Amino acid sequence: MISKRIKELAKLVPLKKRIIDVGCDHALLDIYMAKKNDKILFLATDISANAIKSAIRNIHENNFESRINTFITNGLDGIDLELDDAIVISGMGTNTIIKIVKPYLEKITDIVIQSNRDIELLREFMFKNGFKIEKEEVIYDDRYYVFIYFKKGSIKYEDVDLWLGPIIKNSDNKDYFEFLLKKYNKMLLGIPNEDSKKKIIQNRVDILLSLIQK
Ligand SMILES: C[S@@+](CC[C@H](N)C(=O)[O-])C[C@H]1O[C@@H](n2cnc3c(N)ncnc32)[C@H](O)[C@@H]1O
Repeated sequence: MISKRIKELAKLVPLKKRIIDVGCDHALLDIYMAKKNDKILFLATDISANAIKSAIRNIHENNFESRINTFITNGLDGIDLELDDAIVISGMGTNTIIKIVKPYLEKITDIVIQSNRDIELLREFMFKNGFKIEKEEVIYDDRYYVFIYFKKGSIKYEDVDLWLGPIIKNSDNKDYFEFLLKKYNKMLLGIPNEDSKKKIIQNRVDILLSLIQK
């Protein structure tokens, strides 16, 4: 069964000529999207030969051999990227994601990312490298997942846009704000009064409280 997370991820992926799913694992996203969009081609890649073996089996069972290609590689290495491609990277940590995209930033125009951790660092990295956020979503599926569609282009962002997200901050996802509030309140307890970090976290708590009370 396809998870809520994969369904939500698919909603954010722009319907470009080709979708490159980096770290596809069983190619669940590609198969799900191929069923819904009959003109799109997919390249499902993974660093693991076993993952690609499982992807090929699933693709075959669903008769998508002509539309979903597979490739064993590290990140985007060896892929002939085109401006019309949309890239998806989901289910990895920010450090791995940065390592994957860094050498290819010039060639990337549209990329959807669901990072498992350090989302603030991911936004900061992408903003600094000439990307803006086109769409952003947060869902709960046993835990919170943040999905971000980055597109080439620059916009001036504020501090709150880095840690909360420029679109999420305007949403009415109060459950998510409550979740973050708990996290930052817990952090506050562990920071000594004289530490300058305390002011930053207190500011986040205040912003979250005002969003919850809106
Ligand atoms: C947790 S799974 C996520 C699978 C799928 N993208 C999803 O969201 O459900 C992470 C996948 O990324 C692959 N992976 C990890 N590092 C990678 C890299 N540097 N290049 C390509 N694939 C990688 C792993 O082999 C694994 O299949």
